[in-house]
Amino acid sequence: LVAFFQPKVLAGRRLLITAGPTFEPIDPVRGITNHSSGKMGFAIARAAAEAGAQVTLVAGPVHLPTPRGVRRIDVMTAQQMFDTVLPQAGQHDVFVATAAVADWRPASLSEHKIKKEGKKQAPTFELTENPDILAAVASLAQPPYCVGFAAESEQLLAHARAKLLRKRIPLIVGNLGPATFGRDDNSLLLVDAHSERPLPADGSQADKLTLARALMTELAQRLAA
Ligand code: CTP
Ligand code: CA
Repeated sequence: LVAFFQPKVLAGRRLLITAGPTFEPIDPVRGITNHSSGKMGFAIARAAAEAGAQVTLVAGPVHLPTPRGVRRIDVMTAQQMFDTVLPQAGQHDVFVATAAVADWRPASLSEHKIKKEGKKQAPTFELTENPDILAAVASLAQPPYCVGFAAESEQLLAHARAKLLRKRIPLIVGNLGPATFGRDDNSLLLVDAHSERPLPADGSQADKLTLARALMTELAQRLAA
C-alpha cells in the first residue's frame, strides 16, 4: 500500500541500474568476486518503479526477487555487464551504478578444473583490468544522468569526490563499510561537485528501501533542475 501511494516523481523517466557483484571465473568451478548483496541496487530499482519510472536492472549473481514492474537482465562477469549496459545506456535518462564490479579478472580462463595433483607450488594467476562501465557510460556523446556509488573503508568524502571527478559524473553516493555491507540499514553521503549531504539528513541509519525512495526524490529534483 505504501508503494502504491508513492508520488510518481519519475513518471516518464527511463532508469538503467546495475546491481550486485560480478563473478570472474578462473576455471569451471572457481572464480573471484566482490562482496555485494545487491540489496541497495534492488531497493533503488523498486523505488524507481514505484515512482513511475521504466526500470531496467542489470544484475550480477545475487539471490533476490525481481521488484514488481522491473525489467531484469542477469549477467555474471564485468565484461557481460559492460556489453549489456553500453548499447542501451543512451536510451535511458538515468544510469545508477550500484554494482560492485570486479576491477580485475583472470587473464586467461582454464577450460578444465585446475587440479592440485602434480603441482609442487600453489598456482599464480595473472589478472587483467575490467572495463569501467560507469566511466564508459559517462563519456558517451549524450550520456544519461549518471549516479555512481562509492563504498569506502576510510576517507569517504575525499575518495567519493575524487571518483566524481575521475569518472566525470554529476553525483556520487558514498557509504562507509564494512560494517554496513550486506545489512538492511545504511547511512549515505550524497556528493556532487559543490556540496555534500548525509542521507538521512541527521546522519543516522535507515533501511535501504527508505534510502532508495529518498534518493529517487532527490534524483527527480536534480532532473527537473
Ligand atoms: N564501476 C563500474 N565499472 C567498474 C568499476 C566500477 O561501473 N569496472 C562503478 C561502480 O558501480 C560504482 C563506481 O564505479 O558506481 C565506483 O566504483 P568503485 O569500485 O568505488 O571505484 P573504482 O574506480 O573501481 O575505484 P577503487 O575500487 O579503486 O576504489
Ligand atoms: Ca572498484
